[in-house]
Amino acid sequence: MIIAIDGPAAAGKGTLAKRLAKHFNFSYLDTGALYRAVALTMLRAKHNPSDIALAAQVSAHLDLDILSDPDLRREETGQAASQVAAIPEVRANLLNFQRQFASRPPEDKAGAVLDGRDIGTVVCPTAAVKIFVTASAEERAKRRFHEQKERVGHADYDEILADVVSRDDRDMNRSDAPLKPAENAHLLDTTKLDIDAVFDVAVKLVQSAQ
Ligand code: DC
Repeated sequence: MIIAIDGPAAAGKGTLAKRLAKHFNFSYLDTGALYRAVALTMLRAKHNPSDIALAAQVSAHLDLDILSDPDLRREETGQAASQVAAIPEVRANLLNFQRQFASRPPEDKAGAVLDGRDIGTVVCPTAAVKIFVTASAEERAKRRFHEQKERVGHADYDEILADVVSRDDRDMNRSDAPLKPAENAHLLDTTKLDIDAVFDVAVKLVQSAQ
């Protein structure tokens, strides 16, 4: 069984996806981390993240060790990830890995949960459950602000809001696999719902598909 969780940056999809995977004993893939890995490799090599030929090359030979690098979570890496993610060659190079992960979970797992932007629309269009998690840009910026303040001691709300808005814009308006809900996705707006309430709704959706 495959569960597809999509949505914009900081909507809470990672938290939800991880909790669902644990609850149902499914494997979990954060597909944003793959784009971040390509981006971080580009930044470290001092490449421009929008350089098509170099990004294509990096994504074709990605060293997966970088997936555990703490710099993956930085805002700068997220912005660069959104840039490399607009390049069709990069998306094509990462597609196989994602599909194989989804279709071949380890023997002790009953299924897979993937979160990203195009899981329900492109990577796993036949997923048994598709959830599109949203929240207002202001609410998502507020969450990022608190999380960053906690992590590094300081944060600038206006800067974070501007980053969230520009990333949404790039992710929704690219021509290849733009961020949008699949036709049969369940929309979950987390602006006013806490994570427990969101989780309860999602568990019921998965149970009714089992
Ligand atoms: O979810 P995230 O913030 O870690 O994702 C980083 C960027 O990667 C995001 O701005 C767009 C891109 N991405 C994508 O295009 N498709 C995915 N399935 C996952 C992420």
